[in-house]
Amino acid sequence: MFLFLGTNMRFMTFLMCVLLLMHQSIPLSRPQCHSCEQTSCKCSRQNLTTVPAAPSKLITGLDLSFNRLQTITKDDFVAFASLQSLILNNNRIHKIQEQAFVPLTDLQKLDLSFNRLDSLSAGWFESLASLQSLNLLGNKYKMLGRGNLFQPLKKLKILHIGGPDLQSVGNSDFSGLSDVEEVVFDGNNLLSYTKGSLRQIGPIKYVSLGLNDSKLLSHAVEEVLSPPQIKSFEVVVLKNVDIPEFYSIPTRFLLNTVKAGRRLSVINCKLFLIPCTYSAFLLVLEYLDVSDNLLSDIALSQMMCDGNGGYRRLQTLNISRNHLQSINSQLFTKLERLKNIDMSGNTFQAMPETCYWPLNLQFLNLSSTHLTKVTPCLPLSLHILDLSDNDLTVFNMKLPFLTELYISSNKISSLPDGRLYPLLAFLSIRNNNLQTFSSKNLNDYNNLSSLEAGTNTYVCSCDFLDLMRSGLTNHQVTFVDGLKSYVCDSPDAVRGKIAADARLSVFECHTALASSLLCSGILLFFLLVVGLCHKFSVVWYMRMTWAWLRAKRKPKLKKGELEYDAFVSYSEMDSGWVEAHLVPELEQVEPRLRLCLHKRDFVPGGWILDNIMDAIEKSHRTLFVLSQNFIRSEWCKYELDYTHFRLFDHNDDTVVLILLEPIDKETVPKKFCKLRRVMNSRTYLEWPEDHDQIPRFWHSLRTAIKKPETVNGNVVQFDNVELI
Ligand SMILES: *[C@@H]1O[C@H](CO)[C@@H](O)[C@H](O)[C@H]1NC(C)=O
Ligand SMILES: *[C@@H]1O[C@H](CO)[C@@H](O)[C@H](O)[C@H]1NC(C)=O
Ligand SMILES: *[C@@H]1O[C@H](CO)[C@@H](O)[C@H](O)[C@H]1NC(C)=O
Ligand SMILES: *[C@@H]1O[C@H](CO)[C@@H](O)[C@H](O)[C@H]1NC(C)=O
Ligand SMILES: *[C@@H]1O[C@H](CO)[C@@H](O)[C@H](O)[C@H]1NC(C)=O
Repeated sequence: MFLFLGTNMRFMTFLMCVLLLMHQSIPLSRPQCHSCEQTSCKCSRQNLTTVPAAPSKLITGLDLSFNRLQTITKDDFVAFASLQSLILNNNRIHKIQEQAFVPLTDLQKLDLSFNRLDSLSAGWFESLASLQSLNLLGNKYKMLGRGNLFQPLKKLKILHIGGPDLQSVGNSDFSGLSDVEEVVFDGNNLLSYTKGSLRQIGPIKYVSLGLNDSKLLSHAVEEVLSPPQIKSFEVVVLKNVDIPEFYSIPTRFLLNTVKAGRRLSVINCKLFLIPCTYSAFLLVLEYLDVSDNLLSDIALSQMMCDGNGGYRRLQTLNISRNHLQSINSQLFTKLERLKNIDMSGNTFQAMPETCYWPLNLQFLNLSSTHLTKVTPCLPLSLHILDLSDNDLTVFNMKLPFLTELYISSNKISSLPDGRLYPLLAFLSIRNNNLQTFSSKNLNDYNNLSSLEAGTNTYVCSCDFLDLMRSGLTNHQVTFVDGLKSYVCDSPDAVRGKIAADARLSVFECHTALASSLLCSGILLFFLLVVGLCHKFSVVWYMRMTWAWLRAKRKPKLKKGELEYDAFVSYSEMDSGWVEAHLVPELEQVEPRLRLCLHKRDFVPGGWILDNIMDAIEKSHRTLFVLSQNFIRSEWCKYELDYTHFRLFDHNDDTVVLILLEPIDKETVPKKFCKLRRVMNSRTYLEWPEDHDQIPRFWHSLRTAIKKPETVNGNVVQFDNVELI
């Protein structure tokens, strides 16, 4: 058994002042309804002004709601003889011809609510012997016909009747409704009520009474509930009733009705007090909803008898949307059966550090309570926790039994650690400051299957985009709120884009990799350049070019101006031979030659390379005393270098080579390619081991120095050492 009591049911009011009188005398061709299936036509919202033609005689359901019908004529339903359901709500019907429903002998459901009928006629219903459900709410009638209106409706089970204009209910208005199971009655603006009228209905399973007058209400309740029923009904809902003092509701009513109920709701009734003594009457209560009232902390303490009173069977307590300011869990500690508490919509701001909840508490709703922080006050036994619409910045409380967590509309910036919630199956964290989450974060949840995390300020990294693009196919998790609400907030390239559709370039995706690749590329290039420089002796070439350029800038000496016949380049180690043999032989034996020796003739203090260049430039020939020592001596290389370099410039043969000992060809650096070639292609003078050959050697040397053009022909030893 249900009893639903309520007042001020805010049904739609129509403010139409102009009554259009339509004169549709000519039978018109009917419009077609294009949304018909085999047996039903859903012609809602098609701007129809007349009932459409029937596509077949088999139509059993016709929905004409939200059209512009004004008059129902006796011809309208002739072709709809099989109709079982006729829905006509929200039209502009102000007139129904007496015979209009006569063909509808099979009709079971008729909805005429929210039209403009200003009077009801018993004649309409005469043929509707099969009708089970009738809705006449929200019209303009002031009274229910002229009595016995529902008399023909022998099978009626559901009746919705009344409206803002209903002024009076008379004695016989509900006669004949003995089998009705559900009545919704809107009598908010009732002016006259004949006592006993409602008694004609019944017994009823569900009654919703919209009555403004609380006196009338208690009468009506008594009338619809016959005494045996009172003990067996279970649910009482008082909604939008103005009862500042709950106990001012007639005691008889309360004792007789509420006492027996298992579920009591007193919603939006400006309730500010329920005395402790009432808990004694409410022994069997399992469900108490006092939401949307004016209860304060003190009033709640009173109602719960400071935690020592009744309500011992209570399983669900709804104290949502009252004026509570503190979470006083001790009021509920002793309610062993209490599983659900809804405290949402109060102004707690803070949570105590420790709380004492009933052991079996599973559901706690603390949404919209201005909390900035959660504490261990939260009971570990919770299965469902709602903390949405608060000011939390972090949520990381261990709750081992939690299966559903609602933390939407906070300021949380990271996904809670999944390992704290091994049983969590549903997580709602929409509209927070979440910037990202990863596959790993999701994998930390053992049993998460549904996630709502849209409308956050996502920083779309490549990993995140990959995850979103995959649509979590690799996870057991699905996005309940749809991929479209996952929008990137940054980086700029993808701001405002749906993460599942957004793309980032490879460089943006792998910044570290890309930059390290770039760096190593540059390093490699650098090393390559260095290597190439080394390989091709670029530095050497540059140094030589520079020296050569310097030499070039000096005015060139003519042959007659040359100071020396030969510049002798030799290794310090070979100075013994030079001083003992070469110098005496060439400078002291006639014809004397002038030699330039670095030891003797170089300007002291000058740069060595300058001196060398000078000496070479001023000499007719450059004489190289080649030996292993020479090759090894770095100093010697300068003149060799320079001379070698000059070989590119001057094609004249200025070089004379003396080989003091055989030289391994490998010891001549590759850069001296020209020198090698010279050595290869031309002859050189080899210091003979045989003493008899020495005079001949000196002769050849003198010839080479004096007359270079004939050197080729005057070789003493043609001993090719195979330098290349
Ligand atoms: C109900 O009664 C109050 C005054 O008691 C009145 O102001 C209001 O208009 C009535 N009707 C509705 C539908 O609230
Ligand atoms: C009905 O009329 C309204 C306004 O005249 C128009 O906006 C709407 O599209 C029409 N609906 C149909 C189904 O023709
Ligand atoms: C408590 O009441 C509020 C407001 O009437 C309602 O929205 C909410 O669903 C109720 N909670 C429970 C657990 O029934
Ligand atoms: C918590 O209460 C709010 C407000 O009454 C309601 O919207 C929400 O659905 C409730 N949460 C749960 C999980 O029922
Ligand atoms: C995991 O969650 C599902 C609901 O998504 C639930 O049916 C199942 O019992 C849970 N598993 C465990 C081990 O709790």
